[in-house]
Amino acid sequence: MMDTPICDFVQNYIQKQNLRLHMPGHKGVPVLGAEPWDITEIEGADSLFEASGIIRESEQNASVLFGCKTFYSTEGSSLCIRAMLYLALLNAKSQGRKPVVAAGRNAHKTFLSAAALLDFDILWLYGDPKDAYLSCRITPEQAEQAIRQAKEKVTALYITSPDYLGNMADIAGLSEVCRKYGVLLLVDNAHGAYLRFLPVSCHPMDLGADLCCDSAHKTLPVLTGGAYLHISDAHLAELEPLAKQAMLLFASTSPSYLILQSLDAANRYLAEAYAPKIEAFMPQVLQLKEQLGKQGFDCIGDELLKISIDAKAYGYTGNALKDLLAEKNVICEFSDPDFLVLMLTPEIGSKGVKTILDALSSVPRRQPIAQKPPRIPMPETVLSVRESVMRLQTCIPVKAAAGRIAAMQHVGCPPAISVVVCGERIDENVQNCLAYYGITECFVVK
Ligand SMILES: Cc1ncc(COP(=O)(O)O)c(C=O)c1O
Repeated sequence: MMDTPICDFVQNYIQKQNLRLHMPGHKGVPVLGAEPWDITEIEGADSLFEASGIIRESEQNASVLFGCKTFYSTEGSSLCIRAMLYLALLNAKSQGRKPVVAAGRNAHKTFLSAAALLDFDILWLYGDPKDAYLSCRITPEQAEQAIRQAKEKVTALYITSPDYLGNMADIAGLSEVCRKYGVLLLVDNAHGAYLRFLPVSCHPMDLGADLCCDSAHKTLPVLTGGAYLHISDAHLAELEPLAKQAMLLFASTSPSYLILQSLDAANRYLAEAYAPKIEAFMPQVLQLKEQLGKQGFDCIGDELLKISIDAKAYGYTGNALKDLLAEKNVICEFSDPDFLVLMLTPEIGSKGVKTILDALSSVPRRQPIAQKPPRIPMPETVLSVRESVMRLQTCIPVKAAAGRIAAMQHVGCPPAISVVVCGERIDENVQNCLAYYGITECFVVK
């Protein structure tokens, strides 16, 4: 049986009914209910960024489960993304190279906050212009061409896979290209922690990624904030000693022990219960997608546990479909004018699958909506992300922003992906795109 050293320690601590003259201020007295379990770095509790005791043991359990070196984050993939990029920069430095990161344009906004903090150069890679801006399917051929044609040697390739709509990149193919050119492959696998536990793993670390982050909380039964940073064996000697420092550079010094316990408990669950659960759940999801297809719903993407519906093809906007489902107490992950995204896990069981089918089946099909999203902008870069973020900025109506340079991000989460990136010139196409997604104000450089 896989042990759960962090959970055991806290349970033991609670049983002793100690007088808590340490942080947090609630002293274990329930207000919300979870307070007794919410401890800090007391004697024996170890310390996340200098782990040598129970946290280290628990991280070792996670490493066994993922088949590579794995570290915990209690601040989501966001923390791991910044750490991955910092590690990639150190890697470039060790080779006397300037940090240049080639990145799929659908990068989450944390990628941009990392660029603002670390000041690396970005070479944006655009996918198929017919794709939604949330998807950016970079093929190995495209990546190779970009790496070969780049003015400065590319340090790292940064890919988001699966993306918000459930498209998965050819990580094995991209990894081959990266190896050929000595480029690190960094994968934002925030949406794909579970991929490791499918009957045949398609987790990025098993397909050749060098560094990868997973938001455990997005697809596994883990509290919000729980995430993993993975390092491949190929770069272990060089990057492992720096990994905790890299995380600490951006992290809070008060990591949540509730989240650590959740990650710890998940190890046992993943080791003992999860694989058969997901194996039994897979055919139910596949059948659901098939049934939805028969009813006229166009389910896009190739990720198992996401149902992404091209809502307009069914005669609705994604937002309208979301509202109709909410009336039936079915709350979806994401919607926009075009798509509706549902995230499933085995936790919803066959009852949940039936509820989805019933709810969607009750929506009458209508004439498809022909309006397509505006073409994905490819704005001119005027300033680096860092330069633009450090300038004084002002918030103005999008309508009045033509010609101005975009400053801070103005996209909410989800999807936290920008159609225009800080430092880029806002043009008419950007304005149309922002208006289409309901964004009426934006920050620009003063
Ligand atoms: C693709 C992607 N990457 C990274 C993140 C950040 O993950 P977290 O919320 O775990 O910090 C998100 C969150 O929505 C995401 O969708």
